[in-house]
Amino acid sequence: MSTADVPGPPEDRRFSVPESEQDRPVAEEPGPATAAAMSPAEKAATREEHLRLAEGALVRADDLVAGYVPGVNILNGCDFYLADGELVGIIGPNGAGKSTLLKALFGLIPVRSGGVTLRGEDITSAPAHRLVSLGVGYVPQNNNVFPSLTIEENMQMGVYLRPKSFKERFDYVAELFPLLGDRRKGKAGALSGGERQMVAMGRALMMDPSVLLLDEPSAGLSPVLQDEVFIRCRRINATGVSIIMVEQNARRCLQICHRGYVLDQGRNAYTDTGKSLMNDPKVIELYLGTLAKAQ
Ligand SMILES: Nc1ncnc2c1ncn2[C@@H]1O[C@H](COP(=O)(O)OP(=O)(O)O)[C@@H](O)[C@H]1O
Ligand SMILES: [Mg+2]
Repeated sequence: MSTADVPGPPEDRRFSVPESEQDRPVAEEPGPATAAAMSPAEKAATREEHLRLAEGALVRADDLVAGYVPGVNILNGCDFYLADGELVGIIGPNGAGKSTLLKALFGLIPVRSGGVTLRGEDITSAPAHRLVSLGVGYVPQNNNVFPSLTIEENMQMGVYLRPKSFKERFDYVAELFPLLGDRRKGKAGALSGGERQMVAMGRALMMDPSVLLLDEPSAGLSPVLQDEVFIRCRRINATGVSIIMVEQNARRCLQICHRGYVLDQGRNAYTDTGKSLMNDPKVIELYLGTLAKAQ
């Protein structure tokens, strides 16, 4: 699949670059030497640009500082936004803080400064049940199914706040993941890694979220199943669910996402459209070269 296949998000896309300008050399702007030396993706990752572009975003994080151990910050002033309808990828080296960012967005670790908003409403450190009722779904990388429960029971856990909508939601999820309907009475613990990933995503979708946070949905899967996960994510996004996806599979992620962030040492180092990031020489050299060889 080529990046040209990626459909644009539905509304006003301030970040999109007209096709005619995408490969045009960037004229050096007057200003401080450091700004002139920055690539467009580096410049877009600055606070000034974030403040300019993040206005009106569906999910927005500003200057986040967070960590696990007192005195040790893992996120060091991280900025992030997700516009309505977008599929945004977060890539970066191991230990960069990608999972930590998702946990901070979902209120799972203490935020020391900065904040998170959803449709302009402050949700910094909000409890999970409130976030779920506001339409945010989170699929952690590991331990994301109840293995002793059946697929159907796992799906019921996903809809516990609105049990009456079970049938309608299950029909939607089973259409996306037919296996979940076919094997609804089977124990989730008996499934393969790829199938469990479907259960985890299905469960999050049961609540009819408007935003889905996915932590490495393709991790540990065979290349064929990885591809399926990316295609499903695109389909879920096309049904109107905005998605934030953390991925080790950087190139594949950038191919399917509308925009991407490269996170390094707890802050965003580069951000741009997926296509532009894949073509940015510094991003290739620093983050895609070795990863690309490993694939
Ligand atoms: N539960 C935890 N307690 C303490 N430190 C943690 C915990 N989880 C992650 N870290 C540390 O936070 C840093 C970022 O981790 P993480 O967000 O998982 O990185 P990534 O997802 O980008 O690989 C790492 O240095 C990691 O050791
Ligand atoms: Mg991680």
